[in-house]
Amino acid sequence: MLANVQEVMFSPKGDERGKLIAIESLSEQVPFEVKRVYYIFDTTPGTIRGNHAHKKLKQVLICVSGACTIVCEKPDGSKTEYRLDWPNRGLLIEGLVWHQMKDFSKDAVLIVLASEHYDEGDYIRDYVKYRRFCRELNCVTKE
Ligand code: TYD
Repeated sequence: MLANVQEVMFSPKGDERGKLIAIESLSEQVPFEVKRVYYIFDTTPGTIRGNHAHKKLKQVLICVSGACTIVCEKPDGSKTEYRLDWPNRGLLIEGLVWHQMKDFSKDAVLIVLASEHYDEGDYIRDYVKYRRFCRELNCVTKE
């Protein structure tokens, strides 16, 4: 499996006090050991972030406040937009997926759970190189 994108849902535990979502490594929604967490907030209006793919990294993105849109392109060229606008909705991105994050609301806080420590060597930041890399690997995507 070289590239996969999948929406995942978390079940809030709710009572009269409000809601709580608990996330664990190696669960249905997060099928990897979480080694790193980062979050994106206070995003300047109109900003487009990301614009890269990873060779191996697996990530789950959750917009715990506000909303943003994730555009994912798979090695076969198919492109899908996902609007993350609720804390119980996440997006699992595994491997060679070219992705952009855009249309952040003012209050957006996008948390990302990642399977590896930060490694610039795992990034492909040049789109032409990404397409070439996919062709060379003759990628097959999992739907
Ligand atoms: P960058 O890769 O440009 O963010 P994005 O592509 O998601 O918009 O990262 C911004 C800076 O933060 C860059 O200098 C690398 C650094 N960084 C870390 O040090 N650790 C991390 O886990 C991440 C995601 C980024």
